[in-house]
Amino acid sequence: MTPWEVKGKIDYDKLIRDFGTQYISEELINKVAKYTGAVHTLFRRKVFFSHRDFNWILDKYEKGEKFALYTGRGPSGHTHIGHLVPWLMTQHLQEKFGADLYFQMTDDEKFLHDTNLNLKTSTGFTYENALDVIACGFKPEKTFIFSDIEYAKTNYSLAIQIAKNITYSTVKSIFGFNDSINIGMIFFPAIQAAPCFLPSILKQKKIPILIPAAIDQDNYWRGIARAVAPKLGFYKPAQIHSKFLPGLGKWGKMSSSEPETAIFTVDNPEIASKKVMNAFTCGRSTVEEQRKLGGQADICPVYQYFLMLMEPDDQKLQKKYSSCKSGELLCGECKANLSEKVKKFLIEHQRKREKAKDNIYDFMLRD
Ligand code: TRP
Repeated sequence: MTPWEVKGKIDYDKLIRDFGTQYISEELINKVAKYTGAVHTLFRRKVFFSHRDFNWILDKYEKGEKFALYTGRGPSGHTHIGHLVPWLMTQHLQEKFGADLYFQMTDDEKFLHDTNLNLKTSTGFTYENALDVIACGFKPEKTFIFSDIEYAKTNYSLAIQIAKNITYSTVKSIFGFNDSINIGMIFFPAIQAAPCFLPSILKQKKIPILIPAAIDQDNYWRGIARAVAPKLGFYKPAQIHSKFLPGLGKWGKMSSSEPETAIFTVDNPEIASKKVMNAFTCGRSTVEEQRKLGGQADICPVYQYFLMLMEPDDQKLQKKYSSCKSGELLCGECKANLSEKVKKFLIEHQRKREKAKDNIYDFMLRD
């Protein structure tokens, strides 16, 4: 797994071991709840499952030192609903902790990485994707979305300070680059690490940073930002890591490169619900068998949609799980239920997304 390629079944326990992160324990979840009231669904269901220094961030907060949030998006195309998972958590944390959010749009990265993407298209998607971010409910006065290409003046001077402290061989081994990689990609990790320190520069004091992100982005924090932070006189950024929403096809995360198996936020709701009806499930080959043996909710991607996004009510989720396992609920009915929920979700999201067009510039950071 690299930030640019996540394939097949993912062993999250192995990632925790390999990356040297910690599980988000019950104890930690309860500690968060002291400030947030009810525990967020994404914590309760262990969709956010791993962290680094989250304890430390909360201890700082307890002592009166507020943290800022940092997350981002690579605007290579339209947003799909899997992208929303970390953003919804980020929105929750902004609301409960009154935190500023810095949101990086890496239109430079996507231009450098995707052979077929030109500059105009990737910056165009910065603005398209920003509408989806805003639709998640962030506060305009506390949210700073920026395009790497447009906000280069401020971010670049931080990036070169980082870059000077990281060797080519480090980047090569962390990101698995081979010698045919273009030199823009070699420098790019410094650009993605820079916003970890941006709030400290803008506010002219050391500010703790918490990054909610899917776990494939961890290389930047572990290998780059946290490695250089002490040398540059900043705090090491803390992280909470989420799992991936699976695609509607057989295994693997939802991916824009397989549009039939991804639900985009701009999809016509009717078409999206058809995609759901065509989804791969882990049902048995015949109805009789399914009645006898039950379905396999634990490994079924469709069940994950309910768990991660579409069924916030724990009791209803539990019911879905047990009726699947007992063979009472068949896949067709289950998918029909999901497709209804997806349709409703998209209609509502698209309404908010339209509204975001009125005030998108209140969110964009310029220099
Ligand atoms: N590289 C990320 C992507 O391709 C975008 C990104 C930039 C990001 N900064 C981030 C994601 C911080 C999470 C947190 O999607």
